[in-house]
Amino acid sequence: MKVLIADKSDNICEKILNENGIEAVVKTGMTPEELKSCVAEYDGIVIRSATTLTKDIIEAGTKLKAAVRAGIGVDNIDVPACTEKKILVMNTPLGNTVSTAEHAIAMMMALCRHIPQANQSTHAGKWEKKKFGGIEAYDKTLGIVGLGTIGSIVADRALGLKMKVIAYNPSLTCERAQGMGVECVSLDELYKRSDFISYHVSMRETSKGMINKEAIAKMKDGVRIINCARGGIMNEPDIKEALESGKIAGLATDVYVTEPAKEHIFFGMENVILTPHIAASTKEAQINVAKQAAEQISDYLLNGKKTNTKNGDKV
Ligand code: MLT
Repeated sequence: MKVLIADKSDNICEKILNENGIEAVVKTGMTPEELKSCVAEYDGIVIRSATTLTKDIIEAGTKLKAAVRAGIGVDNIDVPACTEKKILVMNTPLGNTVSTAEHAIAMMMALCRHIPQANQSTHAGKWEKKKFGGIEAYDKTLGIVGLGTIGSIVADRALGLKMKVIAYNPSLTCERAQGMGVECVSLDELYKRSDFISYHVSMRETSKGMINKEAIAKMKDGVRIINCARGGIMNEPDIKEALESGKIAGLATDVYVTEPAKEHIFFGMENVILTPHIAASTKEAQINVAKQAAEQISDYLLNGKKTNTKNGDKV
């Protein structure tokens, strides 16, 4: 058995595969053409976010039996094309949840206190004490859109900051939310009441562009928005307009409609904090996801055991 590790991953991934008697080949930074020309050699593939498994790459992988996303979102894998070829798609949903939730909280606090802007100004010797007056998170209302694994950790940490936490999650019972100390509300209610809104939803047709003019109009004036989920949930021009008018007081985003974002309409905006999709980029999370990816792909290739599948019922 041979598995390709196509994106930079912690060494533990290669080590576990080799220990399991699977030949692990690390080849990162390949162009789609390079990947397409070598993918036929492998029984499995491990990717993070840099590689996109498109239909033609999947079709070229004539021996492929499994594709693992070391992380959560599988929006960079053509899952239907994998299903057609009977390739099992898996993710590692738990490994980077704490890191992502902590990044969302850090972004929220950075919005409260303008930390990146104040840091830059102080480094420049400006000492702009008056310019960077902030707000407290204490007693403010945080609205969480998507109270899944990451959203629940954000809620827990925000409750520790003594915030009021409300959440919208259609697939979760209100009893479960209440059990976490979170009030469950409709999306409209959440927009109406939240001082901060943090999004923790996956990228689907239903979430595409959901932060748009219509949604923003329902939000409190001066709302602050945090997005450590997916860029595609934002209508970026609508958000820019609301940031310019002051309707949105601040945006902190880790993700973009098009990544890598080397040019962007948010660049240079004073009330915007940007990070380059690093919410899950901690030492701990990278070890966790690499380890889980290696274990899951080994389990499937060697024993047929399916874990955290995205198409397990059809493959
Ligand atoms: C994920 O989907 O796991 C996160 O967005 C992290 C990443 O893409 O690297």
